[in-house]
Parts: sequence; C-alpha cells; structure tokens
Amino acid sequence: MSGSALYETFARAPLAFDHGEGTWLVTDKGERYLDFAGGIAVNSLGHSHPHLVAALTEQAAKLWHVSNLYEIPEQRRLGERLVDATFADKVFFTNSGAEALECAIKTARRYQFVKGHPERFRIITFEGAFHGRTLATIAAGGQYKYLEGFGPKVEGFDQVAFDDIDAAEKAITPETAAILIEPVQGEGGIRPVPTQSLKRLRQLCDQHGLLLIFDEVQCGIGRTGKLFAHEWAGVTPDLMAIAKGIGGGFPMGACLATDEAATGMTAGVHGTTFGGNPLAMAVGNAVLDVVLADGFLEDVQRKALLLKQGLAGVADEFPDVIEGIRGTGLMLGLKCVMPNTKVNMALRDQHLLAVPAGDNVIRLLPPLTVTDAEIGEALERIRAGAKGLTDAIAAEAAK
Ligand SMILES: Cc1ncc(COP(=O)(O)O)c(C=O)c1O
Repeated sequence: MSGSALYETFARAPLAFDHGEGTWLVTDKGERYLDFAGGIAVNSLGHSHPHLVAALTEQAAKLWHVSNLYEIPEQRRLGERLVDATFADKVFFTNSGAEALECAIKTARRYQFVKGHPERFRIITFEGAFHGRTLATIAAGGQYKYLEGFGPKVEGFDQVAFDDIDAAEKAITPETAAILIEPVQGEGGIRPVPTQSLKRLRQLCDQHGLLLIFDEVQCGIGRTGKLFAHEWAGVTPDLMAIAKGIGGGFPMGACLATDEAATGMTAGVHGTTFGGNPLAMAVGNAVLDVVLADGFLEDVQRKALLLKQGLAGVADEFPDVIEGIRGTGLMLGLKCVMPNTKVNMALRDQHLLAVPAGDNVIRLLPPLTVTDAEIGEALERIRAGAKGLTDAIAAEAAK
C-alpha cells in the first residue's frame, strides 16, 4: 500500500495552502506564493473575492440544492445573462468542463439526428486539443497518453493537425456532424488559432451542414480580454462549452447553443443532478457581475499587454531558458528551451506558481483581478528564476 488514501493520479507538489487572498496563496506554514496558475484558469477573480464570498455565503444560508425538477430562478437569470452576452439562445448548466463538452457533443449528434441525418455523428478535432477526461472527451482530445488502457476509444472522433484547415476539410465525410476546437489551445501549449482559420471553419460548417463547437473552458470568461476568445475573430459557433472561470472556484460549467443547434435537446433526452444548482448559480452570477462591469475587460487587456511586454523582455534577457512568449490576454505561455518542468520548479522556488503545458510551455494564468504591482512582482520572480537557471548552465559549462 502506498502512503496515501488517494488515487495516485496526480503528481502533487509538496505544498499545502491554507488560504488565499486575491492573487496570493498562503501555505499552512505562512509562506506566501504569487498565484499565476489560478487553479488552471479557474480562479478568475482570485482567491476570496469579497463579492463571490458574499454571494456564496448568502446563498448557503438560504438554499443549497433543489433538483432540476423545479424552477431555479438564479439559473434562469444566469442563463439569460449568458444568452444576452453571447451568440447563444439556450444554456445547459453542468458541473465541469468535460460535462459541458459531453453536452455539446450530444447536442451536435442529436441535432443531426432530428434533422434526418442519424448517420452524421462524427466530430473533427485537432491535435494538441484537451477536452476533458471522460471517455468521450479523451477520444475527442485524441491524446494517446490519456487513452491508453481505457479500452476501445469512443467511436466518432477524427483528428487532424493543429490549425490545418485543409486537412479538416478533407476529413469531412457524409458521417460528419461537427467540428470541435479550442480557439486558444490551453493544455496543448497556449496556442491561439488564427482568426482566418476560425473563419474558414465557420464557412466549412455552413457549407456542409455541420455544427461548429468551441471549447472555451479555459480561454473563456474574460481570460483573453474579451468575454469569450472567439469574439476577437468575429466568428460565432453553434455550440460552446464553458466552465472553469465562470465558477471562480465553485465547480460549474455550461453548454451554450443557438436555438437551431439545440433543436434536438427536448424534454428527457439529457440531464444532470447537480448542474445549475442554486449555490453554483449564485456564484456564477456574481462572477458575471464583476467581469461584465464597465471597463473590467478593457483593464484585463491593458494588464495583459503589460505582462506580455515584460515577459518578452525577460525572454530576450535569458534566451537559454525562454525561447519566446505566446498567447493572448492573461493566458500567456513561456516556450521553454530546457524542460518546462525544470523551469516550473525554478519559478516555484521563487514562490511563483505557474502550470506546465504541452509543447514545452509554461502557462501563466493569473486572476483577471491581478494588479499592476503583482505583474511587476511576477516579472521579477520569473527573471530571478531564469537567472538562476542561466547561472547553473554557465557553472556547468565552466566545469
Ligand atoms: C479546454 C478545456 N476543455 C475541457 C476541460 C475539462 O474541464 P474539466 O476538468 O472541468 O472537466 C479543460 C480542463 O482543463 C480544458 O482546459
């Protein structure tokens, strides 16, 4: 027996946090860490945001849960607000990103079914994608490391190379139902999909009667400086999965759909026990109060520029450690020269938390509420971490 009662599925850092304040996390020993990991883009408004704490505690004193067999006014309100702010006409609330993706996948298949095309069930996805850890979403993500050993891959996902729109077009068959893409790949290494490519995907979907599904679980809710990343491209999907930032730390997600795309989702065909419960909805509404407030997203854009420019300077200074900066908004990646795990460790030694991603990248996903001073502090810590690594290379070479 191993030392822990928990599944050994996570490679955990030897750190335990006791509480959080804004962009800071404090360990059980009182050590302060600057949190640029943000629970992997979950803590959109940092830790213990007073408006979220108030919304959650007020709701907790009133009503935690009723099932979706009854009206849930806060759910209706959050649904209407998401509809007002986006391309969508309909919303289904879930507990997680993967469950939001499951809903999007089922909605797309069901749409084709009710339109007289039960044979159209396949979905085209892109290499480097990450859509979750359920059986269908690991098939959609297509990464062998997540599929191995879990039996036959769920049927119906066809993968093409990242940003290869010609390949996506060639992959369309009479059985294709939809195309699924993250407008900015997160786990794949902070890779934004060019505007032109999103536009072409929209055209392909329209031309072939397919639905376009965006996964904005990581890049949505203000992360890129717009409420949703696809707004930068001026392209709207038929379906969109969101999660992470909308709950600010409370587990929740949603699938957004146009009326047309949701045609097949009639009474009884889909469901959830916890999705959209009053506690989650109170927090989701509170997150939107802040993110949709006048000037908030413009300030995210301004701060993002500050961080990106600062990072570019650090990359120039330490080319043996950081090859370049990528990403958009407060979803930035350091493309590393040495293994990203090593760089991540050096940052952690500086009490700065970040997240490794694919393609040897370190993700920086600070709360949208990060201050200019905290950005300055983070840059100092990244510089110190990179300097330590550069000095170590020099010392090794001198041996
Ligand atoms: C783009 C994207 N889609 C889906 C998911 C899955 O979300 P969850 O872990 O909440 O199921 C993630 C999680 O990292 C994600 O980044």
